Amino acid sequence: MKNLERRSIIEEYVRSYPDYESDRRLKYSISEKLKVPPSKVQSVVSFFDQGNRENKVCSGLPCYLKGNGKGGSSSSQASCLGYCDKAPVTEKDHRFFSIAGGETLPLEESNKDYVANNRQGIDSYIATGGYGTLIKWTDGMDLISTLEKTGLRGMGGAGFPVAMKWKSFRSSIARDGVLLVNAHEGEPGTFKDRIILELTPHSVLDGALLAALSNRIRKVVIGIKSEYEGATFSVKKALDEFTQKFSPSIGSGRFPEIEIMSVPGSYVTGEETALMEAIQGNRGEPRLRPPFPTEAGLYGTPTLVHNAETLAAISEIALGGDFTKSYCLTGDVKRPGMYRTKMGITARDLVESSGGTETGDLKAFMPGGLSGGILPLSKIDTPLDYDSMRKIGAGLGTGSVIALSRDRCIVDIMTEVEDFFRLESCGKCFPCRYGTEGLSGLLHRLKNGQANAADVEGGKEVAQTMIDGSICALGQAAGKVFLDAIKHFGNEFTDHTEKKCEANVCNFGRRAN
Ligand SMILES: Cc1cc2nc3c(=O)[nH]c(=O)nc-3n(C[C@H](O)[C@H](O)[C@H](O)COP(=O)(O)O)c2cc1C
Ligand code: SF4
Repeated sequence: MKNLERRSIIEEYVRSYPDYESDRRLKYSISEKLKVPPSKVQSVVSFFDQGNRENKVCSGLPCYLKGNGKGGSSSSQASCLGYCDKAPVTEKDHRFFSIAGGETLPLEESNKDYVANNRQGIDSYIATGGYGTLIKWTDGMDLISTLEKTGLRGMGGAGFPVAMKWKSFRSSIARDGVLLVNAHEGEPGTFKDRIILELTPHSVLDGALLAALSNRIRKVVIGIKSEYEGATFSVKKALDEFTQKFSPSIGSGRFPEIEIMSVPGSYVTGEETALMEAIQGNRGEPRLRPPFPTEAGLYGTPTLVHNAETLAAISEIALGGDFTKSYCLTGDVKRPGMYRTKMGITARDLVESSGGTETGDLKAFMPGGLSGGILPLSKIDTPLDYDSMRKIGAGLGTGSVIALSRDRCIVDIMTEVEDFFRLESCGKCFPCRYGTEGLSGLLHRLKNGQANAADVEGGKEVAQTMIDGSICALGQAAGKVFLDAIKHFGNEFTDHTEKKCEANVCNFGRRAN
């Protein structure tokens, strides 16, 4: 049965793809040129192929909430284009557009000129004390105890204590390791790294150099998501400015060599080991652990991985101050955006300080993008920090709050969430591969009035298996957010098994889609 399915997929592909022959020839010529088997070329290309690159509709949750559909035949669906505060967003010929008041308007901030005119240059950065610690750096200096005191945790989603990671890296090897800067942001609701890299690139560069010097690292690789052209431009410019100012010490003597790479792929490629695979020219799939990246990371070398925002925080701390957190706010609020404040603001204060909600009371919020779970309004006064979130069974993730108003249907929202995870699952492990498929299918059936209470119970078992057995946090988060939704909004799931939708969003009696 499986072989038959596979054969029919290939037949269908060849039959319906008009350019199949030229595509095949191209892959053969790449295979000849790079001396790798054609099957390897096919495998890598198919992983990163994102359909129609000229015309994309963003289907991330913030864009869905503002009216974006799944894309028609002339456009393809993008999981997240990284402009969630300007939702709903589309992309055409590498240009981004936002739809406002029925009009499709070019997004000014996606323009390289905008970035060039608004980014902080090196002189302005130095005038605020930037690179101060780096300039004074002498052998024997080390930031680890300062970082331990501040309790800084990684801001890429996992929230791992920075000092602890440095210790683990040092216990593997103190020399010849690599620092990998993770700027592959791809989770719906999260766009902080893009803004930080575009507008304040020196803060990330400063932090990266400080982390490298503290850990005696001689090579830094900055992996930026390929769609982030403005961010890549800004970081390259920052490196040029730095090299001119402090030349010739970059790459020789005091400072490590720095390489900036534009890396394709979407959400899952932001997982640190998947990012390493993508950089090495393979499919962007997470690796099994152990070994951990600090033992064997990029090209098998001990690798310290940090999120771009974590490094910006390190540069702030090095100046003797505390660090700020960049929270993203989207969904049913008046002024979506990135808000820099002290760690631990509540979602209520975040929403209120940004102008309040769009349509009265909220029903729920997601504190950390799609992977931090979903919470009811009763938890809105919980500080948005790692420990407080963990105590209530949620995750801060990247600190990207998605606000959901009273008139939203949680089953509908969860359908979008699980569709995202299904689309993004790399398929390497079965709990995630089948689980995301199963939960997405179940939610579509619930929306269409075709699932009963036993199906929902079955979904809970699937979700638990995903949490227990998935290789990476994508599959685990996809299972957990489903269980969270049932825990806090179980009544809505029960309603749907009885073909009722309080929000009047679901259209019962349709065929499952
Ligand atoms: C599916 C998935 C996607 C991720 N995407 C990102 C990302 O885009 N950027 C990022 O820095 N970390 C991302 N992470 C977390 C990284 O694996 C890693 O924990 C992080 O880069 C470490 O840096 P930090 O300690 O400074 O947070 C992702 C994790 C998973 C499971
Ligand atoms: S959990 Fe999902 S995304 Fe992660 S390795 Fe398994 S299949 Fe891939």
